[in-house]
Amino acid sequence: MTSGERAPKPETCTMTRRLLTVCLFHFALLTGLGCQQKMAQQPYYRPYEPADFFADGRSSRPLEAGVVHRGQHLDADPLVTGLTQAEWARFWRRAAPATKVDVTAATPPEDRESAFGAPRFDPRPGQPHSNPDVQIYVTEFPFEITGADLSRGAERYTAFCAGCHGPLGNGKGKIWERGFLKPTSYHTEKVEANEPDETAQIPLGVSRGYWKWDISIPVREVPVGYFFEVITKGYGQMPDHAAQVPPADRWRIIAYIRTLQLSQRAEYGKLPPDIQQKVNAGGRQP
Ligand code: HEC
Repeated sequence: MTSGERAPKPETCTMTRRLLTVCLFHFALLTGLGCQQKMAQQPYYRPYEPADFFADGRSSRPLEAGVVHRGQHLDADPLVTGLTQAEWARFWRRAAPATKVDVTAATPPEDRESAFGAPRFDPRPGQPHSNPDVQIYVTEFPFEITGADLSRGAERYTAFCAGCHGPLGNGKGKIWERGFLKPTSYHTEKVEANEPDETAQIPLGVSRGYWKWDISIPVREVPVGYFFEVITKGYGQMPDHAAQVPPADRWRIIAYIRTLQLSQRAEYGKLPPDIQQKVNAGGRQP
């Protein structure tokens, strides 16, 4: 100690000692009681263990109705793929050994499909899918569509699709009005008087996915399985709806879109007599 420095005052020393003692006491208290938190000792059930709490006696609760099954893509049923069984098997035979998708001109169409989400047709001559007649997407609904299914489809369409595609399916939804890309029209003619002209190179109502593969098919004629794939995976700027719309509802929406399409092209002669009368009463000429 140099001459200028003073020794600490005795009071300060006592206070520091007291503080130290208090800290040590708390530390000893905590360790003495053990560090295990109470959370670790909560009551719990082992898997499949019965429980009195619920009326059905099960401790594991069943899924809520309407929960969307996230593993649905692993199932080969057309109900959840929209693909024919043959196409599904062929796709997975190819996809399984693939590690990384390298997209070059020589890349097989199915690998490109998994990279881009585009339809599986390939316009290059000699390719297994250069023929649009190849059955890739199912053309039939996987279950019989009833009136109730159509009503549900209409309701779900309004909730999930009409915002962009418009209530009539001509792509004039509210989202488009606010600047989003105009979705493909489901119709090949304009269905509203003030419908603007298409700016794209693709003719009105022709599927853009198929067009990419040099195939010109109106959305009106694409197989229902293609719709299913677009809803499930999304297409271009359209987001996918796999997590929001369960598979059965996707088919119901597609069925409703088919009725929307039919409503613009219904043949007078094929209408039931009572509807014909209504048309006549409305002053529309057949
Ligand atoms: C956020 C807006 C939005 C929603 C919601 C939406 N779509 Fe789309 N949809 C689009 C756009 C935009 C396109 C065109 C995409 C492109 O060209 O990149 C499109 C394209 C499509 C196509 C045609 C693909 C083709 O080959 O041209 C189908 C079929 C379709 N949508 C069905 C649906 C269905 C069914 C729903 C409801 C479940 C739905 N969409 C919901 C914006 C939307």
